Formats: sequence, C-alpha cells, structure tokens
Amino acid sequence: MPKRRNLLNIAWKTGAGLLGVEAVWTTYEALKPLAQGKAGGTLTLGPPDQYAEKTVTYIREAQLYVSRVKGELFALSQSCPHLGCRVPFCEASGRFECPCHGSKYDLAGEWLEGPSPHGMNRYRIEVQDGRVTVDTRVLKNGPPLGTRQYYTPPRGGSCGPGRA
Ligand code: FES
Repeated sequence: MPKRRNLLNIAWKTGAGLLGVEAVWTTYEALKPLAQGKAGGTLTLGPPDQYAEKTVTYIREAQLYVSRVKGELFALSQSCPHLGCRVPFCEASGRFECPCHGSKYDLAGEWLEGPSPHGMNRYRIEVQDGRVTVDTRVLKNGPPLGTRQYYTPPRGGSCGPGRA
C-alpha cells in the first residue's frame, strides 16, 4: 500500500510540475518582448480610405498598428516603449493598454499613463500611388509625455483586469 501511495504522490508532483512549466511558457509567449531589429522593408497596404477615422488595424506581418486620428495616419509599433511588451488595442476603451505595467496610449500612440518614457514608437507612413506604405526601417520614438495633439476621449471601460 505505501508503494501505491508513493507512486500517486510522484504522479501528482510530476503533473503539477508540468502544469507549472506550461503556465510559465504560455505567459512568456504572450508577454515576451519583441525583437526591435526584426523589421526591415517597405510594406504596401491598401488605399488610405480603407483606414477610417478613429480606427485601428493590426498589420500582422509587420507587427504594427495602422490608425487614423484627425485625418492623420499612424503606423505604431506594437512593442511598448517601457520594456518591450506587446501592447494590444482595447476596442472598448479606444486605448492601447500594455498588460505588463499598465501604460496606456491613445489612438495615435500618445502616452496617457503608466511608466512608459514616451508615446508608442512610430514607423514612417505615407501614401504613394494611392496606397498606404509603411517603411519599417524607419522607427522614431513616440511623442514626449504630455503630448495631446491627437487626443480623443475614451470610448468606455478598460480591457485590463479589474480596471474600470
Ligand atoms: Fe509596457 Fe511596462 S512594458 S508598461
């Protein structure tokens, strides 16, 4: 009987250990910093009117967002300027909300709150021959703290856990 109990004990501990490893791996994959030097080319997207006012479009192949505010187009790196976590866009609030330390940014990537040193970094974006093009070789620091040039009021509550 003690042998059977020992085997069950080992099986439980092994299972719990594997679950722990899986949880750590999943968390790391979700939050790992992005490689800054990964990008490097010109991306040709659709016509500019495809990007409506106050919308955010995720461009998976370049890991960036295209947004439009006050008629201006922005190509925002999804890498948080604080420590590089992926910053998802929250449709409910109309804000980019970093899950790591709580930095928030408006639709143009302007910093609103949290420990980030500045707004979201921006790639060069322009319209060429009727198509939006993003140069992922040219990444500039986001606007300084306090910039409110493209500020829009929040749409609603935050997507973060326990946040209003
Ligand atoms: Fe985004 Fe720290 S990495 S707030």
